[in-house]
Amino acid sequence: MIPGLTGSILQTKVSKMSAWLLPVDRHSFLQTVQHILYICVTLLLSEGVMAQQRFIIEPQDTSAIEGSTAILKCKVANMVGGLQWTRDNFALGMDRNLPGFPRYQMIGGQTQVGSETIGEHNLKITEVNLEDDAEYQCQVGATENVQGIRSHTAKLNVLLPPDRPRIENGMRVAVVVGRLANITCRANNGKPSATITWHMDGQRLTEMIYSRSIPKVNDKRVDSVGIITINATKDDEGRRIECKAENEAMVLPFSTFATLDVQYPPYITMMTNLSRTIREYDYIRIFCRVEAANPRGITWRWLRNGRILHGETRDVLDIPSISRAYHQNTITCEGSNPVGSTRKNKELNVEFGPLFVGDPQHTAVNLNQPATLRCDATGNPPPSIIWTKKGSLHPQGSSPELRIPKVGEGNLGVYVCTANVLGFNSISREIYLLQNAPPTIMSEVKQYAVTGENAEVECMAMSVPKPDKIIWMRDGIPINYATSGRFSAMEEDLPYGRKSTLQIINVNEEDFGDYNCSVINNYGKDVAVIHLIEKAVPPLPIIIGGAVGGLAVLFIIILACVLYHRYKSAETGSVLGSYTDTDSSTDKKREKSDSPSTLMDQWRQDYNKDLNRYSADYDEVLYAGKDPKGNNNQYRVIDPFSNENVYRDTSQIFGGEYTSQSDDVGSDRYGPAYSGQYPLSSFRGDYADSRLPPACLSTTKLATNV
Ligand SMILES: *[C@@H]1O[C@H](CO)[C@@H](O)[C@H](O)[C@H]1NC(C)=O
Ligand SMILES: *[C@@H]1O[C@H](CO)[C@@H](O)[C@H](O)[C@H]1NC(C)=O
Ligand SMILES: *[C@@H]1O[C@H](CO)[C@@H](O)[C@H](O)[C@H]1NC(C)=O
Repeated sequence: MIPGLTGSILQTKVSKMSAWLLPVDRHSFLQTVQHILYICVTLLLSEGVMAQQRFIIEPQDTSAIEGSTAILKCKVANMVGGLQWTRDNFALGMDRNLPGFPRYQMIGGQTQVGSETIGEHNLKITEVNLEDDAEYQCQVGATENVQGIRSHTAKLNVLLPPDRPRIENGMRVAVVVGRLANITCRANNGKPSATITWHMDGQRLTEMIYSRSIPKVNDKRVDSVGIITINATKDDEGRRIECKAENEAMVLPFSTFATLDVQYPPYITMMTNLSRTIREYDYIRIFCRVEAANPRGITWRWLRNGRILHGETRDVLDIPSISRAYHQNTITCEGSNPVGSTRKNKELNVEFGPLFVGDPQHTAVNLNQPATLRCDATGNPPPSIIWTKKGSLHPQGSSPELRIPKVGEGNLGVYVCTANVLGFNSISREIYLLQNAPPTIMSEVKQYAVTGENAEVECMAMSVPKPDKIIWMRDGIPINYATSGRFSAMEEDLPYGRKSTLQIINVNEEDFGDYNCSVINNYGKDVAVIHLIEKAVPPLPIIIGGAVGGLAVLFIIILACVLYHRYKSAETGSVLGSYTDTDSSTDKKREKSDSPSTLMDQWRQDYNKDLNRYSADYDEVLYAGKDPKGNNNQYRVIDPFSNENVYRDTSQIFGGEYTSQSDDVGSDRYGPAYSGQYPLSSFRGDYADSRLPPACLSTTKLATNV
């Protein structure tokens, strides 16, 4: 509607003008037109001199992606001067084709708006590149009457995509579990600098990331570095971490990725090839298996209680015959790969049969006093303890401690402590409950010496407790060793007693006769008279004959022993046999090389240390007893390890025929005891033929019964 309206107004204006011009003649009309035109041109010209050239549009800051076309605008009205563009203040030239710059040209036309001529002089840059990144200005030159003009400075910002990003750690990034690791991604030569982002499984990672831009020297490009610190877990193995680089020059970001090679020390499990509990002497094999490891190459070490087992470098440890020494030991396997070591521990529970702790703790008490017998044994599981009185099956107690509140005669004697672990052989040991009493001397009342030689007179006493002193007297006066010169006395501890040996150098006639030996302990004293009798030296032939005869007798005895032994071992279930069976579990570990004599020495040494240390375990004691077949002064010593019966001269133990003498002090005491008093009868029945009671015990007890 409005254009139509405008048109009709124009028409009316023209018709009005015509009406106004019509009365004028043709010539004057033309003259008038010419005049008007002249005025107009004059006006126009005078106005052109007066009107300044000016920018209608000035160039703006512009960004252009490399390779694209950029146009910087410059529109000028009333242009009279020459126009040209400058780039970083360097003039590009007036020619619109800009011949010095093949990719540059000025474009745009000219329009007339009213009286003004408006010209476009846009600068078109094709295939933009980094050298075009500059400040541009559109300038119009001055004339005589007209000032030159300059546009704003416009910045052409050339955008360059970065190079394809690259993960500097490589396509496969080795990271170790539990150790922070940096992954670096670099996207160089961006303009502006590329933004680096990290992604995993499509998720953008935003924690622990750093980035840095490094402008290039002599260049407007920028290198971008992105770093991500990762704390990988085993589950990240094989996952891809993606690095994306992006700036305004790009529609889609560049992307690259690396695969995580998550390394971790071995994951180990440990087991044995036994499904039940371990028992002593089992062959066990302990396995360590790798559940997972990266890298897979594993080296192995084994430790026992933290100490390296040298030479064990496989993934199994064999213990061919495990001993109780392994009980509660910690076995460790350690698997290592280049990134770490893992240990697995196992505390072994080794079941083993009972074993007594320490020596038997024999006890001596006064009657009517309380007494406590102890018997400690180890074993796994802990052994049960049964106390019986020797020769009886009636249990007296079942804890390691046997308490007797008030000791009576009937309580004295030999107790047997039996330790039992289910599934293993039980073991037993004897523990004596003795009564404190005055000493009892039991040496031979007749002892012999040869004139001119050295002599030894022995005084042996059973005494619980130990004697305080032993005094030798001659003619009612104690022997003065210091002044006599030729006399000396040596004391030696014996089980439940002590022996004193009076030594006489170079015996002469006067030395024969009676010697008084007094033995005193806390409970009293005993005195014995010993007759030292001269022994005639037999002539040489008799000696030789005696020696030969002795050898023959010895040979016969040995032969008898061997035969007897054969016969005995053929018999099963003999007392001796059952004892050795009983002790087989512990015997295994004992040295069989012990000869009876060294064991005897041991026995004495033990005893010498302490009354209570006299060893009477079934598994280690020497059974010494009186030979049942005769009253000679020999004891049979039974070594439970060799099953050999050895006859020894009793003088090594107690010496003397103290049992059969009738005219000395001691005989009164021994006599009745042997015929049926408490200990002997029980010993006899119990030890049967093959086991006699320890002589010291029976005699001690005998003494106390007097
Ligand atoms: C990871 O890079 C950051 C930034 O450069 C640094 O602070 C850190 O110490 C690096 N960490 C490791 C484990 O290299
Ligand atoms: C355990 O493994 C060892 C070695 O292979 C083998 O001698 C032993 O008999 C195994 N023990 C058991 C209970 O399988
Ligand atoms: C032995 O001792 C008793 C009592 O002490 C005494 O009567 C006797 O005379 C002594 N005999 C000798 C030989 O000393």
